[in-house]
Amino acid sequence: MRRILSIGLAITFFATLTACNIQNQSAAQTSYDSTKRVGGDCEAGYCDLIYVGMPKEINSVDTSAGWNEKGQKLLITGTVFQIDGKTPAPNVIAYYHHTDNNGYYSPRNDKPENQTRHGHLRGWVKTGPDGKYAIHTVRPAPYPGEQIPAHVHWLIKEPDIENEYWVGDLMFEDDKLLIPYQKNHTVGNRGGRGVERVLLKGDLQIAEHDFVLGLGVENYPKRIGGEK
Ligand SMILES: [Fe+2]
Repeated sequence: MRRILSIGLAITFFATLTACNIQNQSAAQTSYDSTKRVGGDCEAGYCDLIYVGMPKEINSVDTSAGWNEKGQKLLITGTVFQIDGKTPAPNVIAYYHHTDNNGYYSPRNDKPENQTRHGHLRGWVKTGPDGKYAIHTVRPAPYPGEQIPAHVHWLIKEPDIENEYWVGDLMFEDDKLLIPYQKNHTVGNRGGRGVERVLLKGDLQIAEHDFVLGLGVENYPKRIGGEK
C-alpha cells in the first residue's frame, strides 16, 4: 500500500513539474492545424485549462489563494496593450498560474479546478477600458532542484480571436537563477517583456508587467495601425 502511495505521489509530482510550458511547446499532439491557429502549437491539454473553472464574471483585479499562504506577498499589475504597444486593450482575459512557495504546482482539494496540472495558484483577470489589471498572489518559487527561474505562466483570450494562446512567462529580475538561465534560453519577446524588476512597498513586492498583444505570436491576425 505504501509502495502504491509512493508511486502515486511520484506520478503526481511528475505531472506537476511537466505543467511547465517553458521548455517545449512543439512536441504537442494537437487536433488543430497549428500552421493557422493563432499562437501556433499549444501542448496537448495545456491551453484548455484556461476554461476549467473560469467564472462567468471576471474582474480586472484578482486575488489568488496564495495571497493568504506562507511566502512573499506579490502584486503583479500592468496594462494590456494592442499590438501597437500604446492602445489599451479592453475585454481581454489574462489567465495565470504559477508554483507555490515551495516550487510546486500544488493541487488543492477544495474544487476540481484546483486539482489540475496547473495547481491551485491560478486565476483570471479581464481588462476594462483602460487595459489595466492587478493580481494579488504569493511569489512563486523555482522548481526544487532545477535551474529554471521562478515564473508565472499566462494564457490570453481576446474577445475577437477564436482561440486562446500562450504568451511568455513572467520572470523576476532579482532571481539568482535568471542570468545563468538566460545564457541558454531566450526569455520574453512573446506578448511582452519576459523579465520584470521587483519593487518593494513595505512588505509587498510589486512586479509591473505589461502585455503587448500579438507580439511574437504566430498567425496573429492584427497589424499595427489596423492593417490586415
Ligand atoms: Fe512552469
